[in-house]
Amino acid sequence: MNQPTMKGVTAVNAPAFVQQQKLINWVAEVAALTKPAGIVWCDGSQQEYDRLCAEMVASGTMKKLNQAKRPNSYLACSDPSDVARVEDRTFICSASKEDAGPTNNWMAPAEMRSTLSGLFDGCMQGRTMYVVPFSMGPLGSPIAHIGVELTDSPYVVANMRIMTRMGRAVYDVLGTDGNFVPCVHSVGAPLAAGQQDVAWPCNKTKYIVHFPESREIWSYGSGYGGNALLGKKCFALRIASTMGREQGWLAEHMLILGVESPEGKKHYVAAAFPSACGKTNFSMMIPPLAFKGWKVTTIGDDIAWIKPQVDEKTGDVRLYAINPEAGYFGVAPGTNTKTNANCMACLTSNTIFTNVGLTDDGDVWWEGMTKEPPAHLIDWQGKDWTPAIASETGAKAAHPNSRFTVAATQNPVIDAAWDDPAGVPISAFIFGGRRSTTVPLVTEARNWVEGVYMAATMGSETTAAAVGQMGVVRRDPFAMLPFTGYNVSDYFQHWLNMGKMIASSPSALPKIYCVNWFRTDADGKFVWPGFGDNMRVLKWMLERIEGQTGGVEHLFGTTPAFGDLEWDGLDFTQAQFDTITSIDHNAWREELKLHAELFEKLQHHLPPELEANRVALERALSA
Ligand code: OXD
Ligand code: MN
Repeated sequence: MNQPTMKGVTAVNAPAFVQQQKLINWVAEVAALTKPAGIVWCDGSQQEYDRLCAEMVASGTMKKLNQAKRPNSYLACSDPSDVARVEDRTFICSASKEDAGPTNNWMAPAEMRSTLSGLFDGCMQGRTMYVVPFSMGPLGSPIAHIGVELTDSPYVVANMRIMTRMGRAVYDVLGTDGNFVPCVHSVGAPLAAGQQDVAWPCNKTKYIVHFPESREIWSYGSGYGGNALLGKKCFALRIASTMGREQGWLAEHMLILGVESPEGKKHYVAAAFPSACGKTNFSMMIPPLAFKGWKVTTIGDDIAWIKPQVDEKTGDVRLYAINPEAGYFGVAPGTNTKTNANCMACLTSNTIFTNVGLTDDGDVWWEGMTKEPPAHLIDWQGKDWTPAIASETGAKAAHPNSRFTVAATQNPVIDAAWDDPAGVPISAFIFGGRRSTTVPLVTEARNWVEGVYMAATMGSETTAAAVGQMGVVRRDPFAMLPFTGYNVSDYFQHWLNMGKMIASSPSALPKIYCVNWFRTDADGKFVWPGFGDNMRVLKWMLERIEGQTGGVEHLFGTTPAFGDLEWDGLDFTQAQFDTITSIDHNAWREELKLHAELFEKLQHHLPPELEANRVALERALSA
């Protein structure tokens, strides 16, 4: 479908700044299929953004918030059926089923193309098709890549302008023959002549489709988040992971932060957590008062692209990371000045909010934003909401997966190197799930294979970021379960191979840690304070990297003793520490059974090193 031919090409009036005929032909071909009423080639300017927002206010898709309280900010509320990523409608259509692996939905490419041809035929009738050029990563960076999204949703255009480097300058990087990932998106709601539009057009039928071999994305029926902002999960994770496998780099579901000691020693770490486990909070963490002089700065809050580069000073091969995104599309509920003051500072202006409550004075509110809820507001579904209604009916002011979209440059602790085309060197990888039991606070892997094993067997209790049952433990290898664009066992092998490649420069090999902030006590309450106090764990990791502190070995790695962590400013007892670091052998026997079940499911191409590690753990447990 994306093979550019002159057949069916319609006139698309590309502006002079678009230099690439292949791109123009592709736009013409998609226009011939989807039959929009008009085409807008986006330039990414502020005027264009303001115009689109004004049009969306006029059409009812967005409301402009109180300009005095939340300048240049908007609220969009979606159709109640379109509120999260739809993993069961997400497909990896590789030529062979094995290449998609047992964790992805697969359909034969020809069959999927025929389904999509039917769905996309005329699907943009009565709407404008926007051409959205974007760079994932700093423009022209050797780690960055370019995409072009064709969409019939102005909401998507406005969000893409915040979330990516979007606009005219991308065409200059693309030139006459640069590569781009073609992304086609439609809400799937054509308008007949004279038909009145709805505030949030979408379709009950949804398809989020990736063709890894030809690196194409086709998304139909949803206007929400990762289903529609195709630079994010679809390109930066699913397609990019397949590019990374071929080209020898990593596309990961990881935040990247910088941490600097009072002595000025700086490290960058990348951390993977499943959706809605506090990645944004961790990436903007404010260290406790007792950590005077320590600074945490943000490179990114959700996705990392990591490529090996030769360190000019030492000649070592090191991993350098960029944040391919330029904004944050974060979960609103629970965000407040205590959990993430830096994030709240980001959101004071120039923000698009989606599916949160609208207060009577034209501002926003969500559960957990303030201790005292407003006396009245309009909830995300447009209904009256009061604390009394909420306690009677359980109605939420904001949907649990409601979001803010805001530019990274609004972050008061943005790292000075966040837009550096060279990226930043990674000293450690952190993997964390949401586990109320079993997994201890922090463990350092004793070697790369052990670290890859920890990440591969990660489990987490599910959240609202995807449609489905909440609170059940699901295995989420590398926090990439819904995002790996190929067979996950091959992905494990790719990680092992990357380790082998860097192992020739051992000092450049990042350490690997597994953390769990979410252990609960007998009353079901979280024991670890989390948020800024995670700095205590981070400091221990940095001291380990610098070879300055000890630890004790347990079943599957090295953990700090109580005395190895900095406790200044926190009243935390040895007994509490034991509650969240203990290894319950019975629980681990059960856990290892689940690892075995996972490996059984992933046995096709499962690296033998990982199974050997599991068997060694089993032996150690019964010794
Ligand atoms: C996200 C997710 O939106 O992981 O970042 O679901
Ligand atoms: Mn995410």
